[in-house]
Amino acid sequence: MKMRAINRICVLTSGGDSPGMNAAIRAIVREGISRGLEVYGIQRGYQGLIENDIRKMTTRDVGGILHIGGTVLQTARSLEFKTESGMKKALKNLKQHKINGLVVIGGDGSLRGAMELNTRGINVVGIPSTIDNDIAYTQMAIGVDTCLNTVVESIDKIKDTASSHDRLFIIEVMGRNSGYIALHGGLAAGADIVLIPEKMVSFDSIIRLIKIRKSKGKTNTIIVNAEGAEKAGVIKQNLERKINYEIRVTVLGHVQRGGSPSAFDRILATRFGCVSVDGLLKGVTGVMTALNGSKYSFEPLDKVLSHQKKLDISLIRDIEILAL
Ligand code: F6P
Repeated sequence: MKMRAINRICVLTSGGDSPGMNAAIRAIVREGISRGLEVYGIQRGYQGLIENDIRKMTTRDVGGILHIGGTVLQTARSLEFKTESGMKKALKNLKQHKINGLVVIGGDGSLRGAMELNTRGINVVGIPSTIDNDIAYTQMAIGVDTCLNTVVESIDKIKDTASSHDRLFIIEVMGRNSGYIALHGGLAAGADIVLIPEKMVSFDSIIRLIKIRKSKGKTNTIIVNAEGAEKAGVIKQNLERKINYEIRVTVLGHVQRGGSPSAFDRILATRFGCVSVDGLLKGVTGVMTALNGSKYSFEPLDKVLSHQKKLDISLIRDIEILAL
């Protein structure tokens, strides 16, 4: 049977929000309409798809959102979508709206959902969007740059107190399974020690590093801990027993996910949005948009999702050397 030409597409955001999602939605809606398509928006990700919360979007609907964090389409982590009955409802609703192209903006779990829909015959392009930057085959995902800037700004501020009071701070950043934010945020902010799930270190070696720093006349210490490495409270307890330092813990939490997207994220999200619509119109499906160097490309979702993104853990050495 001849495939029906793409004439009606829809977009959803899923999983954790990240700054720049709105810029991508804006680009998809306006690029799609400019290319003669009808564009629909699905509220609350896959859950909204299951519940048929789908509406037609106009260019005006995406006015004034480029610089706003979060997602105007809202997002959710849908457990129902992972069930067979949830999937069937989703497919039925796409069919009912005669949608023949879907753009999914989200992280690892959301892209898995996109791949599943693709295996069931839906034309899908995924857009990587997660502050964790843990998606393989793209150097950057939407939201990472803004998040890093927030982390750096926060560490800079905490450093003021650390140096004024001669304290040790443990600053916990997001990254349940990935140390990217801790590693790159720590490097950019001149942290002294970075703890990540990809390379666990013993308390003895952390203490050894702190003692070396003290012997060189450093009177304060900044430890950046990825939430997936160790609980900040546990680190504090273990250090307090062995070193003479006043220790404070700051958990940055969800401030890392919010805020106005940086220029980099706005450009990345806008390009990913336009590229995804162009791809759907050219018959591309089952792929994710990617940026490597200055090159935008499509990478097959099955390839992307079967690989673990590697962190450059040699940066830990750089951080520790430069901290002395
Ligand atoms: O967006 C990714 C992430 O920020 C992880 O680093 C973190 O563990 C998780 O989301 C927390 O998400 P939520 O607050 O939605 O449970």
